[in-house]
Amino acid sequence: MSTPRIVLFSGSTRADSINVKLVNAMAHLFKDMGAKPVKISLNDYEMPIYNGDWEDENGVPKTTKNLVRRLKAADGVFIATPEYNGCMPALLKNTIDWTSRVGLDQFSGPVYGIGAATPGPMSGIMVMRQLHFVLCRLGTTVVPRQLGAGNASALFDKKGRFVDGRTKAYAQEQISQMLGEIERRQK
Ligand SMILES: Cc1cc2nc3c(=O)[nH]c(=O)nc-3n(C[C@H](O)[C@H](O)[C@H](O)COP(=O)(O)O)c2cc1C
Repeated sequence: MSTPRIVLFSGSTRADSINVKLVNAMAHLFKDMGAKPVKISLNDYEMPIYNGDWEDENGVPKTTKNLVRRLKAADGVFIATPEYNGCMPALLKNTIDWTSRVGLDQFSGPVYGIGAATPGPMSGIMVMRQLHFVLCRLGTTVVPRQLGAGNASALFDKKGRFVDGRTKAYAQEQISQMLGEIERRQK
């Protein structure tokens, strides 16, 4: 099997985002487990809030097309999302909505894994259900192991790796599921 290429991004672009920290820890682990992680930031793919009139006038933003190209070139995608009032942040939903205007290959092609980091103990259970729903609605294979990272500030060491054994075990299980499905597809 050729080295699987995994794109990782966070639904928060905040400088000190715990979801970016989750992405960083996952990138280390993907590498340890034989994959090539490619971290991206939604800061590099800014898009206006979706509006059909805007699209009629201007077409799909270049940033959307660039992001779709990136995702389509990946074997796997990992998304870490914050939970805002029990839902996914507007940034993430807007990004998904815009990309769906280009086509759906970026969803049906790669294998997806999802996670959510929260400062409190609840670990984003509600937002992961939503993200799972939306991705499946778009034809995505999302592996069953989800990565809820509650009390997230205590989960990473200074180098950005997982220190918490339970979270790391879940992360390894998710990555194994993703790499297993990617290998199955490559056969
Ligand atoms: C508008 C808003 C709503 C929030 N709602 C929730 C929530 O429903 N559940 C939760 O666990 N945390 C909630 N939080 C706290 C976020 O989990 C916290 O700000 C987290 O650090 C955001 O992710 P980030 O660090 O990756 O930016 C909310 C934060 C904001 C700003």
